[in-house]
Amino acid sequence: MTLTVAVIGATGFVGSHVVPHLASAGHRVIAVSRAGRRGIGWGERVEARAADVTTGTGLDEALVGADAAVHLVAIPRESKGSSFEAVNVRGTRRVVAAAERAEIQRLVHLSAMGVIDDPKLGYLDSKWRGEQAVRESSLNWVVLRPSLLFGEGDGFFNLVKATLRSWSPGIVAIPGKGDARFQPLSVEDLAIAVEKSLTDVDRAGSVYELGGPDWVTYGQIVDEVMKVTRMRRLKLPMPIPLISALTSVTDRILPVFPVSHDQISSLQRPNYTDLGAFERGFGVKPRTLDLAYLR
Ligand SMILES: NC(=O)c1ccc[n+]([C@@H]2O[C@H](COP(=O)([O-])OP(=O)(O)OC[C@H]3O[C@@H](n4cnc5c(N)ncnc54)[C@H](OP(=O)(O)O)[C@@H]3O)[C@@H](O)[C@H]2O)c1
Repeated sequence: MTLTVAVIGATGFVGSHVVPHLASAGHRVIAVSRAGRRGIGWGERVEARAADVTTGTGLDEALVGADAAVHLVAIPRESKGSSFEAVNVRGTRRVVAAAERAEIQRLVHLSAMGVIDDPKLGYLDSKWRGEQAVRESSLNWVVLRPSLLFGEGDGFFNLVKATLRSWSPGIVAIPGKGDARFQPLSVEDLAIAVEKSLTDVDRAGSVYELGGPDWVTYGQIVDEVMKVTRMRRLKLPMPIPLISALTSVTDRILPVFPVSHDQISSLQRPNYTDLGAFERGFGVKPRTLDLAYLR
């Protein structure tokens, strides 16, 4: 089945992998971002359009001619002028309403592992409420909840690298015992799941928790980043209540601090699922964690 797919949030990390994947699978892609930018190497199957989910400007126009849509816009951390409520919740509601008006045949929504209806966990709560807007809509939808995603241009693993380089002279702080567990998934495998979620008719109304083939702890991730970047730091376990207290101050006075209070709080939520989930859901063995692109 060949579709015209509007990818909303096309210029971000996930979008920059999903757009070429969809185009190479033969689909036409409408790549939506605020500036309507084109990504490097996007071919003639990709058309860039501008829209803003926080105001709704351009959204209806962006969906003209689309059979299906992928919603990728979300922020992992609040900043001045950009709140979880405005982007992750109300932005998703606007996308849902525009997709309903455009009579989109399938909406694939990127949620996140660990989403929860709990206002104390700002990001995960906002992703939960965005997800609910999709699930309560009249649309034919599929929800994907990935664990951490790795690949060229990612946010998380590049942030660990930047933290080691710029914030960790000789030692690096590790939250708690460093045993928070994740299940990193390759963004290329996620792109496969997105494409199948767009085209397989019988996936309508499904929610998939997605992870890679291994569970890894935060401590192991730091070790792996140090190995590929050849940086050596001593890992210093720091009690979570202490990091929590520190980040509630840095959130206010040092917004460039690598981690937010909300991100530390979200470590209490599981960010992994069973190891066969991806293959069972999408019929493909997911790739193992490979951070060579960080070199
Ligand atoms: N990365 C991960 O490890 C991970 C894990 C689990 C779930 N997810 C989910 O995956 C999705 C994609 O994440 P990502 O890592 O690709 O994020 P990202 O790199 O920050 O990309 C966000 C995209 O949204 C666009 N955008 C931001 N604000 C917008 C607005 N107001 N209106 C329209 N477009 C706007 C950005 O484009 P412009 O700035 O050019 O407008 C960009 O294309 C998110 O829903 C996230 O919650 C990600």
